[in-house]
Amino acid sequence: MTRTRTTVAAAVSALALLGAAACGSEEEPATTEGGVELISAGTLTTCTHLPYEPFQFEDGGEIVGFDVDVVDAIAADLGVEQEVIDIPFETIQSGEALNAGQCDLAAAGMTITDVREENMDFSTPYFEATQALITPVGSGLDSADALEGRRLAVQSGTTGAVYAEEQIPGAELVTFEDLALLLTAVESGQVDAAINDNGVLLDYAADNPDLEVTTEFNTGEQYGIGVRTGNTALLEQVDATLARLDDDGSYDEIYTTWFGAAPGEAASAAPTGS
Ligand code: ARG
Repeated sequence: MTRTRTTVAAAVSALALLGAAACGSEEEPATTEGGVELISAGTLTTCTHLPYEPFQFEDGGEIVGFDVDVVDAIAADLGVEQEVIDIPFETIQSGEALNAGQCDLAAAGMTITDVREENMDFSTPYFEATQALITPVGSGLDSADALEGRRLAVQSGTTGAVYAEEQIPGAELVTFEDLALLLTAVESGQVDAAINDNGVLLDYAADNPDLEVTTEFNTGEQYGIGVRTGNTALLEQVDATLARLDDDGSYDEIYTTWFGAAPGEAASAAPTGS
């Protein structure tokens, strides 16, 4: 499968965001033939937060990844092109960006949670995840108890940060804005370990043999694509495309592209437990 070309759009500034909230987005909302209203004519605008490899990251100036391919399929079914906007994860997971009309949907390896359900509407689940722990090889840090008194990196606004606050009270939490900064902190020894979703950590460890995923915490998470609360027309198309991708085998193809093996035939796995 070829990697998809996607326009790199600059993050909208705080000022532009305020302007958009006050007087609607600059371009007139456009309606597709199927009756789905988009913030910008001919474009399905996606909010995401980079980098989150292999779900969304930059490669050679293009934003690519599992989620990008999934949303490209939604855009194709709508007869439009996808444009991806990179913004802080907090403004995605809070529903703020969707409510301000910054994007039509959010695809960011984002877990469906009860709190988030109050602030946006989610598609049917499209990916399973659980929290995991990454540390330098040989650290011996492989459980919540082992992290007592240790510095643990968390990513701002994520389910991993919530899990660490609630379930790993003995650790000293250090918050990072994105996954790259979090992993660099583990590499450099600024922290002893980091918590994040198993998909991204296993992917990183596979390419960086100095780090290893030592445990998973069985949080049983599912990723969903978010739309503004009440945007039923778009949500129905998202769910229809997700169902199509399952039925016609495209989901497995996309999965294999980014994970190197079909679903259920995991290329790598970490021991589980808590
Ligand atoms: N799945 C986690 C959550 O929803 C982490 C997602 C982070 N995604 C990102 N693109 N930075 O909280």
